[in-house]
Amino acid sequence: MTEVLVAGATGMLGGAIVDSLLERDVRVRALVRPSSKREVVDALADKGVVIAEGSLTDGPERLARLLEGADVAISALQGGEDVVVDGQTTLLRAAEKAGVPRLIPSDFAVDLFRLDDGDNVFLDHRRRAHEAFDGTHVQVTSVLNGAFTEVMTAPFLEIVDWDNDTFAYWGDGDQPCDFTTVADTAAYTAEVALDPAVAGRPVRVAGDVLTMKEFHEALQRGSGRRLELRVRGDVSELEAEIRRRRAVATGPADFVALQYVWAMVTGKAKLEPLDNDRYPAVRPTGVAEFARRFAR
Ligand SMILES: NC(=O)c1ccc[n+]([C@@H]2O[C@H](COP(=O)([O-])OP(=O)(O)OC[C@H]3O[C@@H](n4cnc5c(N)ncnc54)[C@H](OP(=O)(O)O)[C@@H]3O)[C@@H](O)[C@H]2O)c1
Repeated sequence: MTEVLVAGATGMLGGAIVDSLLERDVRVRALVRPSSKREVVDALADKGVVIAEGSLTDGPERLARLLEGADVAISALQGGEDVVVDGQTTLLRAAEKAGVPRLIPSDFAVDLFRLDDGDNVFLDHRRRAHEAFDGTHVQVTSVLNGAFTEVMTAPFLEIVDWDNDTFAYWGDGDQPCDFTTVADTAAYTAEVALDPAVAGRPVRVAGDVLTMKEFHEALQRGSGRRLELRVRGDVSELEAEIRRRRAVATGPADFVALQYVWAMVTGKAKLEPLDNDRYPAVRPTGVAEFARRFAR
């Protein structure tokens, strides 16, 4: 029986990955920290997940003991440089020591390997983690899913305003963008964990590929609501807005959402080619189907 260790199992995506692994009869071990919410950890244990308590700051030697025997380590960690670069590097070193052959790092984004430093502060961290992975005998497989459909339809990206029934986009509206729900990303990740043939190379999947104009139509079709269409500006105006916000930012959260939008509407971080066909067991939810939840 395959055994998978999940770091970040108490989080949104990590929890969904755990569920997808359990559905596939995989034995799951969750790496949780002493400060993780007890009720969330107990809920994982109730599902049959083995709890391995430790901290990424313990160092690779101590962490390695918690990883021993796992076939794959999946990271769904979220945080700043300390977690994404330092924490994941410690996890990788622990995997090396424990003889874990494969690691799926916490990438789960647009194609961060096509971006340059400075394009997106959070994805810069993820590429820096990969630099630290260079030369390892652990085979690293990123799962790249574009944007979570949940995030694309939430206030964070400032595209859809469900309170005022508006849809506002940057760019010409004609660039295809990749959308995948959290549950579908988790299902693909579980499939990738069980697919050693992709070890060592990124896997690109998308639940739907739509331009901003098509995204608008799909949301209207699915929700049955009319969303007034607004154009916020072209790509150079988006770049100026990112620079303006960055100049007065108290932290990356003040401008990173627009950096994700930029990566999508310029096509620079488009996922190509897609590996969806490799995993026919996953029948992803399209945007229109997803948008039914917004019906009045
Ligand atoms: N493509 C997209 O649109 C999109 C959108 C959102 C997220 N994502 C990606 O999905 C991945 C997971 O994000 P998420 O939103 O699911 O994260 P989340 O819900 O915030 O969960 C974060 C997880 O990381 C753990 N963690 C945080 N700091 C830690 C530390 N110092 N030591 C050990 N564990 C730590 C948390 O554990 P505790 O419970 O102990 O705090 C939790 O399990 C990330 O790579 C993120 O960038 C992608």
